[in-house]
Amino acid sequence: MTLGVCYYPDHWPRDRWREDAAAMRERGIERVRIGEFAWSLLEPDPGRYDFAWLDEAMDVFAEAGLGVILGTPTPTPPKWLIDAHPDVLPVGPDGRVRGFGSRRHYCFRSRTYARETERIVGALAERYGHHPALAAWQTDNEYGCHDTTRCWCDTCRADFRTWLEARYGTPEALNEAWWTTFWSQTYRSFDEVELPGQAVTESNPSHELDFRRFASDGVVAYDALQRAAIRRHSDAPIVHNSMMLFPDYDHVDLADGLDVVAFDNYPLGQLEESPFDAATKARYLRTGHPDLVALSHDLYRGLKDAPHWVMEQQPGQVNWAPSNPLPADGAVRLWTLQGLGHGAEMVSWFRWRAAVGAQETNHAGLLRHDATPDQAFEEAGRVADDVGAPRAGAASAAARDVAAGLADAATPRASVAILFDYDDVWASEIQPHTAGFGYWGQVLTYYAALRGLDLDVDLVPKKKLGLPAADGGRDLAPYAAVIAPAMQLVSDDLAATFEAYVRAGGRLLFGPRSGARTPSGLAQAPAPGPLRPLIGGRVTRIDGLRRGVTRTLEADGATYTYGTWADLLEADAEGEVRATYHDPAYRGAAAWVARRHGDGEASLLGAWLEPAALRPLLRPWLEAAGVTPRELPDDVRRAGRWWLNFGDTDRTVDGVTIPALDAVEVDAG
Ligand code: GAL
Ligand code: ZN
Repeated sequence: MTLGVCYYPDHWPRDRWREDAAAMRERGIERVRIGEFAWSLLEPDPGRYDFAWLDEAMDVFAEAGLGVILGTPTPTPPKWLIDAHPDVLPVGPDGRVRGFGSRRHYCFRSRTYARETERIVGALAERYGHHPALAAWQTDNEYGCHDTTRCWCDTCRADFRTWLEARYGTPEALNEAWWTTFWSQTYRSFDEVELPGQAVTESNPSHELDFRRFASDGVVAYDALQRAAIRRHSDAPIVHNSMMLFPDYDHVDLADGLDVVAFDNYPLGQLEESPFDAATKARYLRTGHPDLVALSHDLYRGLKDAPHWVMEQQPGQVNWAPSNPLPADGAVRLWTLQGLGHGAEMVSWFRWRAAVGAQETNHAGLLRHDATPDQAFEEAGRVADDVGAPRAGAASAAARDVAAGLADAATPRASVAILFDYDDVWASEIQPHTAGFGYWGQVLTYYAALRGLDLDVDLVPKKKLGLPAADGGRDLAPYAAVIAPAMQLVSDDLAATFEAYVRAGGRLLFGPRSGARTPSGLAQAPAPGPLRPLIGGRVTRIDGLRRGVTRTLEADGATYTYGTWADLLEADAEGEVRATYHDPAYRGAAAWVARRHGDGEASLLGAWLEPAALRPLLRPWLEAAGVTPRELPDDVRRAGRWWLNFGDTDRTVDGVTIPALDAVEVDAG
């Protein structure tokens, strides 16, 4: 594993650079991510570039043996650019222009911004594309951050109409796909279609779904434009840093064009912003939720089925969550080993030194404002030793080939897969139907249960199933068991892929709401649509429970608790009832219906089980699939070859003690 750090030579006097670079190497750091917000320094006036400072910085890093990940500065177009081209600015759903003064103030579809992007990115690529310090390019920074994926400007409205015409061909086809006779929404031409989210009450959910697809396509096309501008001058790998479980664009589509995918890992900020209850937030206050963080690793590794990077990882408190606790001593090291165990080839700290001014003044770095070591500085050195990162003097990553590093990185191969899909994310967001229903929450429930049973999990993109390998196609055959939580949108083709998998002996489990909708968002009548012959049953009613309300169901004589959501099921002749609800309002409905297909089987478990209930329920199902689960103590997780203890009590696994907030190598015992 390689360690890196985010650094801003543009923030500090030149006489610090050499000293900082040497101190980085001494901490085992070999890569430095720079430049992603530096446009106004690189081009102080229109067309007048100033590369002198960056030339010097690149040379300093090269001499120190640091490989540079150079960010394109497009998240922050300078003031002169905005004044000259105000059409670049994005527009919110309230119709207000979102102005200059922070970042991400551009519309992904602005033609002017496309030209300006090609110009600045091309100029940088030309100048640094062959610089000895260059290790990789980062396009932009955190696409979609601050709610910027969707835009309501005139360009977006016109483009949306064109996009719809390409998708549907005729207004009649659109009317049918969106069921527009409801509330008199019928359109006579594509030019009549407005952007959703500006109506009196909720917009048509199919309209919303297509707008999200359209907005996502805009992000992906914008990234392609950046990559093309880079590729004209440079062969270095291209990466983008995404945000954990950020839902607003399709990460599978974005990953297709990138050489490496990366995410920014902020375990404490993420927990504070999450919908977890107060008790969970208090429990993981200083470590973050271990399974939530691990899920991001497996998601990003799963996007390309290849090692990923963590481009930013918090080394202390962040500034942007509703409250911003300090990490526990040891947490920073645990997060890094967790990355290693889940297939990350690089982890890079954000940031080297705390900023003394502006919006992120209260964000910690490895160094404090005054450049003295902060809390995580020692720990960063310790984890460098854990992962074998060469401390100063040894050969550095700048000299090493990034591709070779990626090939060497461990890629865990799991026997259980979870399917995920961004259309399904959006369907859940657009009509959650009950407070607390969230797509990633549903995925996490299954994921955490599997992780608590000491199983490695691969996250597999649904949209890659059945595609040829050349298009990144993925196959379910290697997995003994596959789980599809909240997979609302199901096409006939997808159902056929599943059928082939179970006929070949695979075990497939669908979670609540699976197969509820057609690909355009209409109800399957009845749900689960084309999955019905597969599971041998259908959904007759649904129940959305208020937060905090729980009910029970019975399977094999045991009782299990669920909340938030229940699909009420009825088995067909070929189906078998595995669990039944207790609530009298359900009138004896089944909770879990399964159908065998030779050695394989498919089933739908309609209730959102409590995490503690799901583990014992899944255990026999996993064992029947030939997987060997084992119960781990609370707070302990295995990440590759490390046992990690995220709690403040020592724990024992197989006679090996894992001290609180510490890590022990699995075979050390
Ligand atoms: C990330 C972002 C960084 C910085 C950081 C603070 O979302 O990419 O530029 O803002 O958060 O935690
Ligand atoms: Zn726009």
